[in-house]
Amino acid sequence: MAISPGVYFLCLLNLFSFGAIFSSATLFTLENGCNFTVWPGSLAGKGPSIGGGGFALAPGSSSQFQAPAGWSGLFWGRTGCKFDNAGKCVTGNCGGGLKCSGGGEPPVSLVEFTLNGSDNKDFYNVSPVDGYNLGLAVKAVGGTGTCQYAGCVKDLNIDCPAELQMLDSGSVISCKSACAAFNKQEYCCTGDHATPQSCSPTKYSQLFKNACPTAYSYPCDNATSTMTCMGSDYAITFCPTGSST
Ligand SMILES: *[C@@H]1O[C@H](CO)[C@@H](O)[C@H](O)[C@H]1NC(C)=O
Ligand SMILES: *[C@@H]1O[C@H](CO)[C@@H](O)[C@H](O)[C@H]1NC(C)=O
Repeated sequence: MAISPGVYFLCLLNLFSFGAIFSSATLFTLENGCNFTVWPGSLAGKGPSIGGGGFALAPGSSSQFQAPAGWSGLFWGRTGCKFDNAGKCVTGNCGGGLKCSGGGEPPVSLVEFTLNGSDNKDFYNVSPVDGYNLGLAVKAVGGTGTCQYAGCVKDLNIDCPAELQMLDSGSVISCKSACAAFNKQEYCCTGDHATPQSCSPTKYSQLFKNACPTAYSYPCDNATSTMTCMGSDYAITFCPTGSST
């Protein structure tokens, strides 16, 4: 039986798009360096949801996921989760239970990715602009370009000033951004402080910078914060070595 040209064309097309997805897929390895379970959450800005939007990661374990070319989105870590009827997480909670259908509730440290951005480079950064709950790091594996390590070296929950602390049973579980805590233009870089010239580091952003030196520490902090790499895979670590929790 002769195969119709139409069917043949479709098969060829599938073959090509399948091949293209494989050749340019980026591998994300999520690793839990904490001594407690972390429930990674992820939210896609462009492309499919990674890891179903959320899953449990036992201490010392890792999981791998592929993302297609052009993918963009966020990763964060949730702690103290219970997915019963009243279920939620103590930090980084999202809508949707185990599998996030929305972003994590601040204060939450974020990893942001854009694959195949301008000049086909991948862009990534660690951002405590929405506050901090866990140490995070991104390491490029292979790839060409500057491909800098982006990550935290200290646990900001230990150094968080009282006015920014979020407490649970007397322990600091996360640290609010100064913008969220005080809602002032100078911290949020709004109003009179909306331009890169008038949006400056503060004593609070300096604390975030000390804990996560390569991360965004205030809204206009773009000089050292966005990393680029090409053709790389990425390891994302919760509680990287050096940050104590
Ligand atoms: C930071 O971003 C602003 C606006 O997004 C831009 O005008 C400025 O040139 C950037 N600075 C650096 C060092 O990239
Ligand atoms: C995405 O970027 C990678 C290099 O980082 C490249 O190999 C791949 O061809 C690009 N894919 C598309 C669809 O542009």
